[in-house]
Amino acid sequence: MTDNNLRIHGTWSTQWTFILAAAGSAIGLGNLWKFPYIAGANGGGAFVLVYLLCIVLVGLPVMMAEIMLGRRGRQSPINSMRRLTREAGLHGFWNIIGWLGVVGGILILSYYAVVAGWALQYVVDALTGEFQGTSAAASSQRFATLLADRNTLVFWQSIFMILTVAVVAGGVVKGLGVAVRVMMPILLLLLGVLLIFGYHEGDFAQAWSFMFSLNFEALTLKGVLVAMGHSFFTLSLGMGAIMAYGAYMPDNARIGSTVLTIGGIDTAVSLIAGLAIFPMVFAHPELQASEGPGLLFVSLPVAFGNMAGGLFFGGLFFILVTLAAWSSAISLVEPGVAWLIESKGFNRFTANLLLGTAAWVLGLGTVLSFNAWQDYRVLGFNFFEFMDFITASVMLPLTGLFIAIFVGWVMKEYVVREELATESPGLFRIWYPLLRYCSSIAVAVIFVVGLYEVLLR
Ligand code: PHE
Repeated sequence: MTDNNLRIHGTWSTQWTFILAAAGSAIGLGNLWKFPYIAGANGGGAFVLVYLLCIVLVGLPVMMAEIMLGRRGRQSPINSMRRLTREAGLHGFWNIIGWLGVVGGILILSYYAVVAGWALQYVVDALTGEFQGTSAAASSQRFATLLADRNTLVFWQSIFMILTVAVVAGGVVKGLGVAVRVMMPILLLLLGVLLIFGYHEGDFAQAWSFMFSLNFEALTLKGVLVAMGHSFFTLSLGMGAIMAYGAYMPDNARIGSTVLTIGGIDTAVSLIAGLAIFPMVFAHPELQASEGPGLLFVSLPVAFGNMAGGLFFGGLFFILVTLAAWSSAISLVEPGVAWLIESKGFNRFTANLLLGTAAWVLGLGTVLSFNAWQDYRVLGFNFFEFMDFITASVMLPLTGLFIAIFVGWVMKEYVVREELATESPGLFRIWYPLLRYCSSIAVAVIFVVGLYEVLLR
């Protein structure tokens, strides 16, 4: 069975290929677009601290558990969980870990493709010189005009969806590693360029103090929930993505060092993105840190429009945003696709077509929430915000909690030890209690308290 599945889906050639693929999944719109805007909307420093704590105390331990589950199950998340529960004679309830992941992936992809579509439009704008000499006010106006134009939004959303589905249909393992290996260093370099520009031309000091001085009055309980949810979102956890990739991981690869590498790169990219964006925001009184989802798209054109070589850098930057989104989007569909192939007899092409279409249709709701439907609200959220909240702040943490409980408390300790036999014993001694006592309890408490605040607001 195991061998057969590895034959169907393939396996990563080396540990590095796995790291690159997982980093490709982790680094995406979550780092470049979402982290800065949610940090801005939640007052900065204190939010950033909670987010960093969640990465270390919850995200990394859960990531290790999730990769381990995938590698032991060796199939799509749904079937991996089935196999593990059956093997241990456990209740089928735990298969929910696989199911929530597959559904969550499609829901996330629905709005992810719309936002990636904005980046595609910005590639065109940057390269045609639209940003040249642009003012903050003109930049805000350009973004507002884009959001109001639903045909353009649907056009780019569709292009992005087709690109995503096309790669997954070709098989994830092939080619992804190469793409990521080329893309990541250039992305880091460009963020470096932006950082230097922000340092010289923007208000870097204020940006720094906004991100790192602890202003707890600005942080609400909902903000804490959002920060925790984002630690899952940015590391691609609680959705089967990392579990599905773990299934293609060689037996002897080290999970611990892999997790630390991915977590380190991912966090660095988010913080640098924040430090590149906020100096521009604070240098222009027309821009607000609490701008919302448009933050990246209104602040950076002002930087590119006023820097030497901005045409080139701007075009390249938005191409990279799209590529980063693309390598993440692939991992959003892969769990569902792998399951349809294994269990429902689909071929890769039709499985992709089905899931891609479902995500596309749902995405129309997000498109409309920025124009025709902007006044329809549930619990104060418009459609896009609701999708974001239900996935990032509810489904991912919930699945993460189930993973922590399953690996920490339900699976037999000797099985867990056996699967992690190649890891250093010191790491196991830190990780296992952390997962059992810290991650699971922290997620449960933040989840209940945060949700309580949202529902009774
Ligand atoms: N981690 C990705 C990002 O930060 C999003 C993602 C979430 C991808 C969950 C896969 C699974 O953009």
